[in-house]
Amino acid sequence: MPLYSEKVMDHFRNPRNVGVIENADGIGEIGNAKCGDIMRVYLKIDNDIITDAKFETFGCGSAIASSSMATEMIKGKPISEALELTNKAVSEALDGLPDYKMHCSVLAEQAIKGAIEDYYKKEKQNE
Ligand code: FES
Repeated sequence: MPLYSEKVMDHFRNPRNVGVIENADGIGEIGNAKCGDIMRVYLKIDNDIITDAKFETFGCGSAIASSSMATEMIKGKPISEALELTNKAVSEALDGLPDYKMHCSVLAEQAIKGAIEDYYKKEKQNE
């Protein structure tokens, strides 16, 4: 069996949602100290719905595929659902990642949670 599923390869070669959202409502950045990879997620949020999500990943292929899939999975969804997105769900949607690459999908989960936290922080400041 090949190491990476076709879905991983597809999202790695043609990542969805790459880029920056100017004036994003929330930005989450997370790094992994061991491998040194960094992921940044930008969210546009309207009435508790994630209307757009983009990412920049300075990292491995699995991290790129994970952020591509994760941003696809939360677009159009309420914040509450995005907060429930686990790295396991991202990896399953990619038809699996090798065990030693699971931490790459954790980055995607954490970057999204960080972006939502940032959004709440900004909302509070604007109250
Ligand atoms: Fe670091 Fe994949 S090896 S995120």
